[in-house]
Amino acid sequence: MTEAVKKVPIPAKGVDYRGKVVLAPMVRSGELPSRLLALKYGADLVWGPETIDRAIIGTTRTVNEQTGCIEWCRIQSHGLKEPPPDAKTSVIYAMDPVKEDRKLVFQMGTADPERAVQAARLIAGDVAGIDVNAGCPKPFSTSGGMGAALLRTPDKLVAILEALVQNITPEYDIGISVKIRILETAAETEALVRRLVATGITGLTVHCRTTPMRPRERAIRGQLRMVAELCHEAGIACLMNGDVESKDEGLRLAAEFGADGAMIATAAETNPSCFRPAADGGLLPWREVVGEYVETAMAVHNKFGNTKYLLAQMVPGKEAAHKAVTAARSYVGVCEGLGLPHLTDRARVLDELRGLGQPSAKQKKQQQQQQQAARRPAQSTNATALAAGGQMGQARALSKNKKALSDRQQPAAPTSDPDKTPVASVA
Ligand SMILES: Cc1cc2nc3c(=O)[nH]c(=O)nc-3n(C[C@H](O)[C@H](O)[C@H](O)COP(=O)(O)O)c2cc1C
Repeated sequence: MTEAVKKVPIPAKGVDYRGKVVLAPMVRSGELPSRLLALKYGADLVWGPETIDRAIIGTTRTVNEQTGCIEWCRIQSHGLKEPPPDAKTSVIYAMDPVKEDRKLVFQMGTADPERAVQAARLIAGDVAGIDVNAGCPKPFSTSGGMGAALLRTPDKLVAILEALVQNITPEYDIGISVKIRILETAAETEALVRRLVATGITGLTVHCRTTPMRPRERAIRGQLRMVAELCHEAGIACLMNGDVESKDEGLRLAAEFGADGAMIATAAETNPSCFRPAADGGLLPWREVVGEYVETAMAVHNKFGNTKYLLAQMVPGKEAAHKAVTAARSYVGVCEGLGLPHLTDRARVLDELRGLGQPSAKQKKQQQQQQQAARRPAQSTNATALAAGGQMGQARALSKNKKALSDRQQPAAPTSDPDKTPVASVA
């Protein structure tokens, strides 16, 4: 008789990571339109960008009437106790409750069990899972003891996962997971994973790079089988991550190394149609994907700066459209630069709503200053004005330098070519 496979039960509103190829958490690159596109092309689940516990605590959950999206918003106080009356509201996190229903995993950056639970309570009712980031090597994460720093403080990481499992799972019926990197030796990784899988989590993702490894260094898969086996012994799902280029490849590699599924980051950032199985046509040309991206970004009122950033990743640098996108200052500019005339009307409406394409208060001030500066030299070359202003010396010097009218060069005659602007007109 074969032994029954151990499986930590998946809570009713949670998701099982087994058999899935998913979009990785990516700060900036994993915002709502990127996730919607990944889902459209075939991602089974999507992780949101790492959001720090402190960033979500204090936000207000609202439904955007125009887009139908749920947004967690905060009034910008700029460090003041009372925000000024004209303070702007920032959207910290946004999701589509229909298209991302049971598909979205919220990834949190945290270094404190209590704060993690407090933050999770604000979001857990809307998502399919909460994931803890224990792999980000960036200083903004590790300096607070979060991200990859947690790999060196396993007691703290275990305490965070246990606090979430004990509080969030029963209250919201969703699972908790963790994303780690491999450690220098297999023995170190094994000791860590043994502790993590015993916390009651339902899933673990292993990024097959060590903390000091840079993204361009090839992922190391030598420890993967061992990590997957430890997960299976404990009854939890194991996703592999690192250098997976497509959904088909993810499924193949997962089978080869005994993992339950795979997670894709960089390949999806460049072209989210990497989730499209070869049987359905596989990777699409960038032009097609970019058009879909712009339309999706506008539909959810994505921040323009973020849309531009993503387009700069998706449009190849050697293409003229890349330059056009990076120079664009509005959605209309983006549509013109990418040759998307069918989207221009919608872009115009959104630009108006967002005040895009209009000079900012700072730019307006700069323009005024430039206009004033341009007027100044004209005044100082007017001898009469200088004399009237008491600057007689300068006025005399100016009069001396004046050529007789007959000595001056005649201005050019207006050109008959309407495309050529006349240099000056003869009175
Ligand atoms: C732009 C960008 C942002 C990322 N942000 C996060 C993040 O918020 N949380 C996280 O755990 N990993 C983050 N990562 C790491 C990825 O999730 C992933 O682990 C890594 O890129 C390896 O996968 P890949 O080889 O498919 O790119 C980020 C990676 C990129 C490229």
